[in-house]
Amino acid sequence: MKSINHIAIIMDGNGRWAKAQGKIRTAGHLVGAENVRTIAIAANRLGVKHLTLYAFSTENWQRSQEEVSYIMKLPAIFFKKYMKEFIDRGFRMEIIGELEQLPKSTKEVLLEAEEESKQNKGLHLSICMNYGGQSETVIAAKRYAKALQENPKLELTMDNFHEFLLTKNLPPVDLMIRTGGEERISNYLPWQLAYAELMFVQESWPEFSEEVLKNCIEKYKHRNRRFGGVKE
Ligand code: FPP
Repeated sequence: MKSINHIAIIMDGNGRWAKAQGKIRTAGHLVGAENVRTIAIAANRLGVKHLTLYAFSTENWQRSQEEVSYIMKLPAIFFKKYMKEFIDRGFRMEIIGELEQLPKSTKEVLLEAEEESKQNKGLHLSICMNYGGQSETVIAAKRYAKALQENPKLELTMDNFHEFLLTKNLPPVDLMIRTGGEERISNYLPWQLAYAELMFVQESWPEFSEEVLKNCIEKYKHRNRRFGGVKE
């Protein structure tokens, strides 16, 4: 059976879900954060090795100050509640993004989760926080320019360009799922998504369950991945 190594998810639809329940948008984010635990456990159970979640994009600062500051508090709420469980389950957390622009306390909590779990060998759970693919590409180009000053013979190749990315520890994405019914990539992992299968599901992130994840993986297994080649 075709195995699935890396799933990336755009966790969209929290706000609309909350509104439909007569609640404020941030209530959707809180239920969304709870669902990070549910889906990480489910993905691990289903044999996924890498799960990468889009929690906050470089464009999300345009939201109301109230909403942004609520999302920035979620990592502390989340890891206080679940860090021990995640460690026990062997999850290895990685935080991806331009972390220096985050509030100090948010950054600290996130880096602590990464540090505490770095020896773990189980599910590699990456959380993208203040991440944007175009900005990441510019950062990589600047990092290369700097490395070139130190080593004028350093060539830029497909392999070593990857090393300059914020996402250098991520393998290629096999399946990208976006919840909430919109069909866009929204600046998410352009390098790693190059040959990913894409799925757009109607369920909003708070409604996205193990069952829906399983269905996506089943569908993925019937896709014919050709990586630009030909397969009969
Ligand atoms: C997009 O939905 C969702 C976000 C910008 C926030 C996602 C954050 C979480 C699910 C919590 C992350 C958890 C941790 C532990 C960091 P939206 O609100 O834009 O949906 P809408 O399209 O309905 O408005």
